[in-house]
Amino acid sequence: MRRIHPDIQDNPDIVQAYAYPEDRPWLRLNMVASADGAAWLKGRSGPLSSKGDKRVFQLLRGLADVIVAGAATVRKEGYGPVPPRDTWAEIRQGRPEVPPIAVITRSLALDLDGELFCDAPSRTIVITCEAAPHDRRREAAKRADLIVAGEEGVDMRRAVAELHQRGLTKVLCEGGPRINAQLSAAGLVDELCLSISPLLVGGGAARIQNGEPAQVALDLSQVLEEDGVLFCKYTRAVHGDDEGAQP
Ligand SMILES: NC(=O)c1ccc[n+]([C@@H]2O[C@H](COP(=O)([O-])OP(=O)(O)OC[C@H]3O[C@@H](n4cnc5c(N)ncnc54)[C@H](OP(=O)(O)O)[C@@H]3O)[C@@H](O)[C@H]2O)c1
Repeated sequence: MRRIHPDIQDNPDIVQAYAYPEDRPWLRLNMVASADGAAWLKGRSGPLSSKGDKRVFQLLRGLADVIVAGAATVRKEGYGPVPPRDTWAEIRQGRPEVPPIAVITRSLALDLDGELFCDAPSRTIVITCEAAPHDRRREAAKRADLIVAGEEGVDMRRAVAELHQRGLTKVLCEGGPRINAQLSAAGLVDELCLSISPLLVGGGAARIQNGEPAQVALDLSQVLEEDGVLFCKYTRAVHGDDEGAQP
C-alpha cells in the first residue's frame, strides 16, 4: 500500500497523489460516504463532507478533462458551471481553463435557462438517449453539446466512448449512486476516490453504488487522513475477479 503523508494539509505531493495516468483513458469516481456507508445525509452530500474533502473534490475537478454527473445529482446538488481557479493554471496547461460538466439524463428535466447552460466557460454536455422527449432534445441542443448514446437509456459504454472521441479521456464521475452502479456494471470504473467521514447516520440513504449488483475487485492504492476523514484511493484490481461487470 502506498501511503502519502498522513495529513493532507501538509502534503506537498497532493497533485501527484491524484495524477491521472498519462498513457491511457481513465475513469475515476469520486464520492464521500459516512462510516456506515451512506451516500447522502438530508438528501445531499454536503453534510458528509469536510474541509479536506472539499479540497480533494476541487483538485480532482482541476485534473479532469470532463466531469460526469447523473441528472438527479445535478438537480439535488444545484450544479452550476465549474468556476475557473488561479491554482489550476499549471495542472490545466494546454487544456480549457475548466472542464465541462456532462449530465446524464433521459427526461432532460434540467433547467436549460440556468447558469449551467447559459454561463459555462466550457460548454455543458448533455448525454441522453433516443427515448428522450424530442422537443427537450432540440432545446438542450441549443445550449449544450448533445450526445445521444443509447435507445431506451444511455448506454454507459457508448457514452464514455463518445467522450473519448472528443479528446476527453480523463473522466471524473461525481455520481450519483445510480450512475456509479451502471458504470461499474459496464466494467468502466478504473478508480474510486472515496472520502469516509467519521459519522454514523443510519436512515435509508443509498450506498455509493445503487442498482443491479456489479462486483468489481479493487486494490487499495493510497490512504490519506485529515481530521478523522479517510481519503481512500482504490484502483481496479489488475487480476480482479469481477462479477456482474462486463469485460
Ligand atoms: N456522497 C456523494 O459523494 C454523492 C455524490 C453525488 C450525489 N450524491 C447524492 O446522490 C443523490 C442522487 O443520486 P442518485 O443515485 O439518486 O441519482 P444520479 O445517479 O445522480 O442520477 C440519476 C438520474 O440520472 C439519469 N440516468 C441514470 N441512468 C440513466 C440512463 N441509463 N440513461 C439515461 N439517464 C439516466 C436519470 O435522469 P432523469 O431523471 O433526468 O432522466 C436518473 O434519474 C443525491 O441525493 C445526491 O446528493 C452523493
